[in-house]
Amino acid sequence: MAASAEILYRPATPVDGAEMWRFVQAAGVLEPNPSYAYILLCQHFGDTCVVAERDGEMVGFVLAYRPPRQPDTVFVWQVGVSPKTRGQGVGIRLLRYLLALDGCRNVDYLEASVTPSNKASQNLFRAFARKSNTRCRKLPFFPSEFFPEPHEPEYLYRVGPIRWPEA
Ligand SMILES: CC(C)(COP(=O)(O)OP(=O)(O)OC[C@H]1O[C@@H](n2cnc3c(N)ncnc32)[C@H](O)[C@@H]1OP(=O)(O)O)[C@@H](O)C(=O)NCCC(=O)NCCS
Repeated sequence: MAASAEILYRPATPVDGAEMWRFVQAAGVLEPNPSYAYILLCQHFGDTCVVAERDGEMVGFVLAYRPPRQPDTVFVWQVGVSPKTRGQGVGIRLLRYLLALDGCRNVDYLEASVTPSNKASQNLFRAFARKSNTRCRKLPFFPSEFFPEPHEPEYLYRVGPIRWPEA
C-alpha cells in the first residue's frame, strides 16, 4: 500500500464494487451504472483499478482497463474523488498509482472520454499530462447521435506517450 498524507491507495477487488456504486450515487456528477458493473469490472480488471481510502472510507477510485485492440493503452472508464476531497491532488495521485501497477506494464497511453461540460475532468487529464511531461490530445470519440437519449458528445483525451524513467 502507498501512502499520500493520510490517504492510502490500493488496487481494487470485487468487494469494493458495492462501495463504488454508493460513492457514485452520492457524488452526483458521475454517470451511475448498475452495481453489477462495478463488481464485474473490479473482478475482471482489478489489476487496473484503484481505491483511495482515508480511515477506511473510500475517498476516490479509478476504474480502468486495457482495451484488447490497444495493448499500449489503459482506458479510464470512471474516476471520482469525494466532493470534500477534491482539489487536493487525489485525482492526479490515483492516475499515478494506476500507471505504476503491474497491470499497466508497457502502457504508453492513458485515455479517457470526457464531455465538453466536465471542466474538472478535462483539467485533470491535461494537468496529468503536463506533470508527466507529455501531451494530452483531444479527439472526437462518441458523437451525441450515438446515444439513445439526449447526451453530450464524448471526446477522447489521449495522454502520452508516457515516458518511463530509464531502468
Ligand atoms: C475530476 C476529478 C476526479 C478530479 O479530482 P481532484 O482530486 O479534484 O483533482 P486534482 O486535485 O488532482 O486536480 C487535478 C487538476 O484538475 C484541476 N481541477 C480539479 N477540479 C477542478 C474543477 N472543479 N474545475 C476546474 N479544474 C479543476 C486542478 O486544478 C488540477 O489542475 P492544475 O494542476 O492545473 O491546477 C473530481 O473533480 C471528480 O470526482 N469530479 C466528479 C466526477 C467526474 O467528473 N469524473 C470524471 C469523469 S469519469
